[in-house]
Amino acid sequence: MRIAVIPGDGIGEEVTAEAVKVIEAVGQRFGCSFELEQLPWSADYFLQTGVTIPPNGYDMLREFDAIFIGALGDPRVPDNRHARDILLGTRFELDLYVNYRPVKLLHERLCPLKGRGPQDVDFVVFRENTEGVYVGIGGRFKPGTDDEIAIQEEINTYKGVHRIIRHAFEFAKARGLTRVCMADKSNAMTAGHALWQRVFRELAPQYPGIDSTHYYIDALAMYLVLDPKQFQVIVTNNLFGDIITDLAATFQGGLGMAASGNIHPGKTSMFEPVHGSAPKFAGKNVANPIGAIASAALMLDTLGLKEEAAAIDRAIAAAVNAMKCTVDVGGSLGTREAGDAIVQLIAAGR
Ligand code: NAD
Ligand code: IPM
Ligand code: MN
Repeated sequence: MRIAVIPGDGIGEEVTAEAVKVIEAVGQRFGCSFELEQLPWSADYFLQTGVTIPPNGYDMLREFDAIFIGALGDPRVPDNRHARDILLGTRFELDLYVNYRPVKLLHERLCPLKGRGPQDVDFVVFRENTEGVYVGIGGRFKPGTDDEIAIQEEINTYKGVHRIIRHAFEFAKARGLTRVCMADKSNAMTAGHALWQRVFRELAPQYPGIDSTHYYIDALAMYLVLDPKQFQVIVTNNLFGDIITDLAATFQGGLGMAASGNIHPGKTSMFEPVHGSAPKFAGKNVANPIGAIASAALMLDTLGLKEEAAAIDRAIAAAVNAMKCTVDVGGSLGTREAGDAIVQLIAAGR
């Protein structure tokens, strides 16, 4: 397996180093070999060379079996240009339309919701990943003046909405799940989100075993906090999915725990923790590497390496149970030591 590794900025570099150690450890244990190729694209690289991603960058990425990204974002690049090209660019250019963000609580102590435990928090969010307000269509007219006009269009296409909602239903069906919830803001965004309503109503009857519900996104945010147990599969647009997955990450113990996959089924896909570069933690060996390590497990699972992925997930759960983890999740270890603990659990065959 050839994997492109883009550590990126800030804590992205630190958590990626731990994910790489873990991938190598499962490789050793299960006798599979990974060719991990590090790519330097980052804020540093941009500031030194003026290049965010080289002209053939996306073609290079397509040649790999998978891509792993740490995080992108640096205060020295205020317009976030490099993140737009490297992170969003990869999502768009490789057409990674499924942003898969599982939300699973491993231990009661990690959940800030009163009285909730692992039996209450176990759902997945499918975030549309190639459209919405993220497409960058629009611009600023007379910027910086009192006459400034700023336009940022939200794009919803039948094809785009259909394929993500269909993916959510197919995922539920394949896993024997019985509930799919679609969230939009069709009461206010009466044109764009009417399309989400139309497609959801078109597809739902094709899945008779599945109870399909709809919430407006504001109500969804409220129900997530009040009663997360009701959710199995949530599907929503790019922006709303971004927001609710940071909220949902807190149910798992915080942003440091949350994993994601940017997937086009059957094609080269990209995996990354949900969190960003957390500049305030950068270089301090305090960031939690579990979100990155769990993203590596998602990557291996998607590549068909099910046993390897399951071994990583078991080691993560064991480390969390044994408090062999970073401070944000109740342990006392640094980033590297928390990664080592997971590596040791894998090597020990647990
Ligand atoms: P962030 O996710 O980087 O951090 C927010 C806060 O969450 C941190 O200050 C910290 O308290 C906590 N946190 C995040 N990751 C953690 C970890 N691994 N362990 C422990 N605690 C953790 O979000 P932000 O501060 O809004 O953004 C910082 C930069 O990262 C910005 O430039 C932003 O654009 C970028 N960003 C990138 C990605 C990505 O690459 N996928 C995702 C989100 C934000
Ligand atoms: C994420 C991030 C990105 C997004 C930013 C860095 C553009 O927040 O992956 O969740 O909004 O998609
Ligand atoms: Mn986000």
